[in-house]
Amino acid sequence: MPNDLYEYQAKQVEQIIVRPFAFDFPDDLDPQWIPDDIVRGHFFNGVSLTMPYLEPFLVKTMREAAEHLTEPRLIEDIRGFNGQEASHYKCHRRLNTLLKANGYPELEEVENKIDAAYKKLSKRSLRTRLAYSAGFECMTNGFTTWLINRRHALFHGASAHVTSFWLMHMVEETEHKTVAFDTYMAYSGAYLPRFLGVFHGSFHVIGYGMLGMFAALKKDEILTSPKCIAGLIRHMGSLIWHVGPFLLRALLPWHNPRGEADPEWMQEWVAGHATLADSSSLPLVDTNDPDMPVPFTAEVSLA
Ligand SMILES: [Fe+2]
Ligand SMILES: [Fe+2]
Repeated sequence: MPNDLYEYQAKQVEQIIVRPFAFDFPDDLDPQWIPDDIVRGHFFNGVSLTMPYLEPFLVKTMREAAEHLTEPRLIEDIRGFNGQEASHYKCHRRLNTLLKANGYPELEEVENKIDAAYKKLSKRSLRTRLAYSAGFECMTNGFTTWLINRRHALFHGASAHVTSFWLMHMVEETEHKTVAFDTYMAYSGAYLPRFLGVFHGSFHVIGYGMLGMFAALKKDEILTSPKCIAGLIRHMGSLIWHVGPFLLRALLPWHNPRGEADPEWMQEWVAGHATLADSSSLPLVDTNDPDMPVPFTAEVSLA
């Protein structure tokens, strides 16, 4: 039932823009696209595997919720959210097809497990699915800040195509970061399910992402090597250190994603993208540049 106490609040961004994801991944794309850290590359590939199942689930859940809502600005936000998520999963699917074709066909087994998990989740109540969606999106906010602000440490020298894709995805996640939360608040607003949704949404996705990562590391026959174990500890430590505080803040009864500042690079990216004459051709981030600036040549000024 809709929450009568819900009131719409302004977002940090004026508009949620649906952009084409015109990434032409090379056919011979190396699944180990972060050459100096195989574990990290496989982790992001594992998370990518979940997206063509998770993101359509989010779209369906939000569409179903919109039928119960009347606030026109929120309904407009949901439209933008769904448009962006639909572009994301289609591009992830293209990337995942290459990962499987270029050395890791066993990832299909992981995809089958993810598919079954989302079919099961889709049978839960709308409130539970919305709490999951809001919780997952809160975690994504931390993920975004981690990827954008630590882009040099994470992606230095990595594939420009995959790096640019992940960063663009994260920019749009920041842009629509309020929508799943607002939809949950407008539909229910109850605290306990939202609290549980933070764990449910975050650990479910990261868990399946890790399953994909372990499948790839097993294929590489390095899963039990000391170097791989050290890489796993380092990478998971970094994830917990950077994303954990976002999860803890999301658990607070007064939490609102509007309280999280948008990274400056994200704002520069949005302003830079708006200067593109043809938005269907996306310039790539230079992963060899120590600053990894936004990939747009026009001067942009932030308001
Ligand atoms: Fe997304
Ligand atoms: Fe999202």
